[in-house]
Amino acid sequence: MKVRTFALGALCTILAAAGLMITAGSAVSQNAGAAQMTLNGGKTGDVPFPHGQHQTTLEKCDACHGMFPQEKGVIDKNKADGSLKSKAVMNQCTGCHKEMKKAGEKTGPTSCRGCHQKN
Ligand code: HEC
Ligand code: HEC
Ligand code: HEC
Repeated sequence: MKVRTFALGALCTILAAAGLMITAGSAVSQNAGAAQMTLNGGKTGDVPFPHGQHQTTLEKCDACHGMFPQEKGVIDKNKADGSLKSKAVMNQCTGCHKEMKKAGEKTGPTSCRGCHQKN
């Protein structure tokens, strides 16, 4: 009887651990972040950013997240502590758009007002 109770307990532990693993796994693969964001463009004005559209078009998260982690507010935070240079992210955005435009491919805005909204 004691043995059976132990076996049942062990089985429950294994099932619970497996359940946790499944939950954690799906949480990771599903956290794509917000589909639409507004980035802080300082005095030049807010920058609306279709995050989800870029994920679909570019596929690789590292096109941007090679520069900063997948975290809300991390750009402002890293700019404040000096680990990310002012305009570094913007140059990543415009750099890609300009390169693709030159190649004649469909891409995003390259003019200031194409990205920055007037405050
Ligand atoms: C074209 C650039 C770009 C690409 C590509 C990109 N992201 Fe992001 N991502 C951003 C920006 C910008 C932020 C906002 C950071 C901030 O708030 O400071 C962000 C934030 C996030 C956040 C945190 C914000 C939230 O709403 O939870 C998650 C999670 C995230 N990205 C996941 C992903 C994943 C997963 C991929 C790939 C499938 C991806 N991103 C591809 C630019 C990008
Ligand atoms: C590696 C290349 C790449 C990077 C980096 C990138 N973009 Fe784009 N962007 C694109 C492409 C490609 C499109 C066109 C997407 C489409 O038509 O589906 C686009 C489209 C856009 C659009 C227009 C969306 C529309 O529906 O008209 C905006 C706005 C934009 N990008 C802003 C940004 C901002 C802000 C950043 C930086 C945080 C950024 N992009 C980074 C490739 C890039
Ligand atoms: C493809 C979109 C895009 C274009 C085009 C663009 N910007 Fe930006 N800009 C951003 C984003 C996103 C940020 C916020 C992220 C960062 O700090 O890099 C930003 C930030 C800035 C900042 C604040 C930098 C800081 O650290 O305080 C200034 C100033 C600025 N942009 C000016 C301009 C001017 C001037 C132009 C035209 C010559 C321009 N931007 C074109 C997307 C863009």
